[in-house]
Amino acid sequence: MRHNRLLMVAPMMDWTDRHCRYFHRLLAPSAWLYTEMVTTGALLHGDVPRHLAFDRSEHPLALQLGGSDPDDLARCCQLAAQWGYDEINLNVGCPSDRVQRGAFGACLMREPELVRDCLIAMREASTVPVSIKSRIGVDELDSWAFFENFYRIVAGSGVQRVIVHARKAWLQGLSPKQNREIPELDYARVYRLKTEFPQFEVIINGGITSVAQIEPHLQNVDGVMIGRAAYQTPWMLTACERLLGAAGHRPERDQILQQMIDYACRQQAEGVPVRHIGRHLLGLYHGQPGGKQWRRQMSECLQNHAAGPESWRRQWQQPGSLSAEVA
Ligand SMILES: Cc1cc2nc3c(=O)[nH]c(=O)nc-3n(C[C@H](O)[C@H](O)[C@H](O)COP(=O)(O)O)c2cc1C
Repeated sequence: MRHNRLLMVAPMMDWTDRHCRYFHRLLAPSAWLYTEMVTTGALLHGDVPRHLAFDRSEHPLALQLGGSDPDDLARCCQLAAQWGYDEINLNVGCPSDRVQRGAFGACLMREPELVRDCLIAMREASTVPVSIKSRIGVDELDSWAFFENFYRIVAGSGVQRVIVHARKAWLQGLSPKQNREIPELDYARVYRLKTEFPQFEVIINGGITSVAQIEPHLQNVDGVMIGRAAYQTPWMLTACERLLGAAGHRPERDQILQQMIDYACRQQAEGVPVRHIGRHLLGLYHGQPGGKQWRRQMSECLQNHAAGPESWRRQWQQPGSLSAEVA
C-alpha cells in the first residue's frame, strides 16, 4: 500500500553536505533533504556561500540551524529565504559538548519558552516554513508529562512540522555517538504526540534501517526521517522512494554512479576535490556481489589525488572484481 506520507533524510554533520545531498536526491527524488547543522554564529560571522550554496536539484531542502538567540536565528532565516531554502529547522536534539557550551541543541529541551520564542522569531523573519527537531527528553526529564509540556508550550509558536528523534539525550557522560545508541527508542511516545497534538505534522526518527520498518510508523505519524541507514546503505532510499514517492522509481546502481561521475567532473572543474564527493558513494554497492571490493578500491582511489572521477567506474569494471568477492 502506498501512502501520502513524507520521507526525509536526516541532517548529519560531516555527512549530509551538498555533494551527499546531490547523491541522495538521485536515489530519492521526492525526499526532503536536510543540511548539516549550521550554527547562527557560523552563518552571521562566516562564509555564507560556503554554508548555504546548494544545487537546484536538492529541492525540497531544509536548512538546519543551531542557535538559541531569537534575533540571530531570525537573521539567519532571512538569509535562508534569500538563498531559496524550502524549510528552516531548529536543532533541539544535538547533545555534543560544543553545542551545550553554546547553550543550544538538546539542552534547549529544558527551556521550552525560549524554544517557543526562537521559533516565533524565525517564523516572523520570513515566509519560509519553520520546523523543529527534538528528542523525547533529556537527562532525568524523561516522562510523557515533560514531553507533553514541552510541546504544549512550543505549539504556541504556531510551528507545524515536528521531527522527533525517539530517544532522550544524556547530556553528561555520553558522547554524541553513544547518544544515538544507548538511550532506548520509545516510538510510542512520538505516536502519542501525534494523537494529542493532531495539528502537528509529526515525523518520526531513530533506528529505521529498512523499508519494512516504515509501514507501522506510517499508521501513526505523518512521515519518517532516516539518518545513518540512508548514509551507510544508500540504496534503501530507492525502495523508500517507491513506497512514499514515485512508485515506478527503479534506477540502476551503475547509472547512478555514472551520474555522480558526471557531477564530480563538473565540480572538479570548479576546484572541488573529488574525494569530497566520492566518499559519500562508498555504500552504493553495499550487499551486492563485488560490493566490498568496490568499496575498498574506491577508498584507495580516493587517497590517490591524481585519480579523477572516471577511475571510479574503471575500478568497478576491473577484471576479476566480481569473481574475487564471490569466491
Ligand atoms: C554523523 C552524524 C551527524 C549528525 N549530525 C546531526 C546534526 O547536525 N543535526 C541533527 O539534528 N542531528 C544530527 N544527527 C542525528 C541524526 O539526524 C538522527 O537524528 C540520528 O542519527 C537518529 O536517526 P538514525 O537512527 O536514522 O540514524 C547526526 C547523526 C550522525 C550519525
